[in-house]
Amino acid sequence: MRYRPLGSTGFSVSEIGFGCASWWGKRAFDEREAIRLVHAALEGGVTLFDTGAAYSEGNAEPRLGRALKGRATDGLVIATKAGTRHDGRRVVRDFDPTAIEASVEASLRNLGLEALPLLQLHGPALGELTDAFLDRISGLKRRGLIRALGVNSFDPQVVALAAGRAEIDVVMVDYNVLRPERAPLIAEAAGQGKGVLAGMALAMGHTGGQVLKLRAPRDVWYALRALKNHRADIAKGARFGFLGDIPGMTGAQAALAYVLADPNVSSAVVGATRLAHLRDNLAASGITLPEPARAAIRRAQGG
Ligand SMILES: NC(=O)c1ccc[n+]([C@@H]2O[C@H](COP(=O)([O-])OP(=O)(O)OC[C@H]3O[C@@H](n4cnc5c(N)ncnc54)[C@H](OP(=O)(O)O)[C@@H]3O)[C@@H](O)[C@H]2O)c1
Repeated sequence: MRYRPLGSTGFSVSEIGFGCASWWGKRAFDEREAIRLVHAALEGGVTLFDTGAAYSEGNAEPRLGRALKGRATDGLVIATKAGTRHDGRRVVRDFDPTAIEASVEASLRNLGLEALPLLQLHGPALGELTDAFLDRISGLKRRGLIRALGVNSFDPQVVALAAGRAEIDVVMVDYNVLRPERAPLIAEAAGQGKGVLAGMALAMGHTGGQVLKLRAPRDVWYALRALKNHRADIAKGARFGFLGDIPGMTGAQAALAYVLADPNVSSAVVGATRLAHLRDNLAASGITLPEPARAAIRRAQGG
């Protein structure tokens, strides 16, 4: 596993991060299997684990805490999110600073930590990132409850604003073969000393039509999510089937190598619930895409 600096935070992170969200965090997914994946990720050198208070109906974060219990967490960048929570029925947004402070206290308990290495604001609106708000949230850093502060957003205007703020250390954006348009924004953020996390680095399994291959209940869940929220990506992803034909690497490794070819990315964060997928992803660190494959990706992106 290779490591990269997380902007100016002083942290170094594995270039493949493990996403503790989606099916991984759901109660329907066997907890022993979920924990086994975290342990395999640790053994494979993963030091970045990304979760959120609202993920998987609120089960993902405490599950990650249980997975890490008894393990040395020094040197790990455990990232969680606030600003959203699951109220038992649905995800609720709440960017009231008092709610965020309470969310951080709960996350510390869930994760068994004294300080969160990275807290990310989960999808704030442009108008919510005011001076007063950021100063209040920075108080969590001054109090030693969080070490670094980030913003996770897929809204380019929010990411650009966050990248220009001294209080923000890290941005997490959706970056994968289907989102080449994020590259200039990522370069801008990195140029301002921010760590950049590429979320959904595998395009949620959309490349090559994988997301519609239904082998188990989890695949049905991912397919329904894609049909509900990301229909356009399914059509786009179908143009990238050739990624699976590049000699010396799997399609997922090719997709991750594309993200990691960008020196401004600190880590590509991937969710996996199959051990074979996780191993495949870990082995993507250090893989270089041959130029003909890069050219084919550019053509597919333009087409
Ligand atoms: N989705 C969002 O809106 C969002 C937002 C903010 C942050 N994030 C962060 O980004 C992380 C990743 O996002 P995500 O889980 O939505 O999507 P993703 O990582 O882009 O894709 C997950 C899908 O890819 C499959 N997969 C993983 N490794 C594979 C491999 N080697 N070969 C083939 N298929 C593979 C998984 O299958 P199996 O489960 O069968 O292994 C799953 O269906 C999240 O965990 C979270 O930390 C996501």
